[in-house]
Amino acid sequence: MKRKDFIKNTALLAGSIVVGAGATGCRPSQQAVKKDNLNANVSKVEDKPKPAFVLPALEYPVDALVPYIDKQTMEIHHGKHHAAYVANLNKALEANAGLLGKNLTDLCAAVGAGADQSAIRNNGGGHYNHSLFWTILANPNTIEQKIPTGKLLSAINEAFSSVENLQKLLKDAALSQFGSGWAWLSVDKNKKLFVSATANQDNPLMKNIIAADKQGTPILGIDVWEHAYYLNYQNKRKDYLEAIFNLIKWEQVDKLFAAAIG
Ligand SMILES: [Fe+2]
Repeated sequence: MKRKDFIKNTALLAGSIVVGAGATGCRPSQQAVKKDNLNANVSKVEDKPKPAFVLPALEYPVDALVPYIDKQTMEIHHGKHHAAYVANLNKALEANAGLLGKNLTDLCAAVGAGADQSAIRNNGGGHYNHSLFWTILANPNTIEQKIPTGKLLSAINEAFSSVENLQKLLKDAALSQFGSGWAWLSVDKNKKLFVSATANQDNPLMKNIIAADKQGTPILGIDVWEHAYYLNYQNKRKDYLEAIFNLIKWEQVDKLFAAAIG
């Protein structure tokens, strides 16, 4: 994938999830604190980049997705699980200078499959995947596009024949993912759409981990970890998958598609 594509996608993703003063979204701060600039409250001199990924605020209240996703699930999912991925990613990066300083998209592209990078793979993937997930969901009453439109619709029809078939393929991918993982709609290097599933917190950006024909830029992801649905749906993953299509904010997917194809 071209670097400009990474940058565009990351900027779009980060721009849509950063809420609140001081938040740095997906981008790590590389600002070293110089001794001359120290104020009275800073007692330690830092002369190298520090990881500073932050939990992005939701763009909607935690009960905005009711009845399809309940309030408590959102509180735990965003406030506990996603927050833990961010904290653990920052901690893991302190011990891995080779990946320190990369933005989140580049980090996913660079992380390897070795055991020495498993914490960054799991938590960096967890941070990226959830940051994307929150932005493509919304209260149905606030969604401007309830179905794909424009170039995205054309690309969906070309690749999958219809939106209905795309949804079926996404559900099939999500249902066939054994254990925890994600189902994805992504754009490949030839700017074509494809559906895939990944285990745990892997994603199609991870070119050192994912098979070549499943690599690309995600524009829609569905979390099929049990923590995403178990309070409401228990073991009925299929019911959760039926419900979640009521929450897809297609105008955001369309923006991510436009950024991915350049
Ligand atoms: Fe999750």
